[in-house]
Amino acid sequence: MTALDRIEELQREAEAAVAAAADIDALEEARLRYLGRKAELPMLLRGIAALPAQERASVGSAANNARKSVEALLTARAATLAEGNLDESAIDVTLPGAPPSEVGHLHLITQTRRDIEDVFIGLGFQIAEGPEIEHVEYNFDALNFDVTHPSRARSDTFYIDDATMLRVHTSPVQVRAMIAAPPPLYVIAPGRVYRPDNDATHTPQFHQIEGLAVDDGVTLADLKGTLLAFAHAIFGEQRDILLRPHFFPFTEPSVEVDVSCFNCKAGQLRDGSRCPLCKGSGWLEVLGAGMVDPNVFAYVAEYGYDPERVTGFAFGLGIERIAMLRHGVPDLRLYFDGDVRFLRQFGAR
Ligand code: PHE
Repeated sequence: MTALDRIEELQREAEAAVAAAADIDALEEARLRYLGRKAELPMLLRGIAALPAQERASVGSAANNARKSVEALLTARAATLAEGNLDESAIDVTLPGAPPSEVGHLHLITQTRRDIEDVFIGLGFQIAEGPEIEHVEYNFDALNFDVTHPSRARSDTFYIDDATMLRVHTSPVQVRAMIAAPPPLYVIAPGRVYRPDNDATHTPQFHQIEGLAVDDGVTLADLKGTLLAFAHAIFGEQRDILLRPHFFPFTEPSVEVDVSCFNCKAGQLRDGSRCPLCKGSGWLEVLGAGMVDPNVFAYVAEYGYDPERVTGFAFGLGIERIAMLRHGVPDLRLYFDGDVRFLRQFGAR
């Protein structure tokens, strides 16, 4: 057998051994057998000088090529084996790092409150606040509630004692804001309120935003324009509003305010069926409002609110209800259950 034939044979054997190596140890064994210090191919290379002159070049380059080719195969096979060898002790530095932990996001009610606050701040209103534990006097008496008004019943209000209660609405902040500053007064008062109700559309604790504007010559037209701007900003520029006569002890006249339904046209969906959101009426009830009753001004007259001179409007809305309408929330209790599967739907804002 010539030296060249032997080299070819060794190369084929080495290739087969590398391909058959099932793990890193077997591969190392093959490397030692064919390229190790005492292996035949390297010995042959080292012995080139001893060959007859006419064979040196051809045998030298053939042996050298065979060695390079086997080396390349060894490297490739080692990489393949390493890939398939990801046990827990092996660290794959090409994997991405641990994902950053979630930062969370504002609750839908907080987002909605801020959206509404932005609208009124843009119109020149300032934010006022009042306590959740309120004087019965500010919650009811100062607001012209008759002593027989049903909301005063033990069953309709969380009383702390005869003079103190959890406020049932944000309207007492009207009284506090007027005591704190003379007109002109343009304030909104967001906050928690409490009523002993609990079902799909009532929770014992919920959130309102009160509005109060007092100045010379404020009219119902100012109220309507303000609420129309609110409806446009929160429900879309195409909306209209409807003022229906109503009653509140602290406003006269009083209205309930509807926004035209953004889910349909005049109560009908595109396919002619009844709109489930506005129940076919074309209108969504969103808040209560009215012109401040002179009896309310009379209570704070000494602070600059002469009922013969100043006029004003007030409104009060439920934040849960606004968010419910905007996002199709079917049950108010979802806001407070703390189920992240619900809350996460409102995270990407
Ligand atoms: N306080 C009323 C309620 O809770 C809402 C309201 C506020 C109505 C201001 C008129 C003016 O239902």
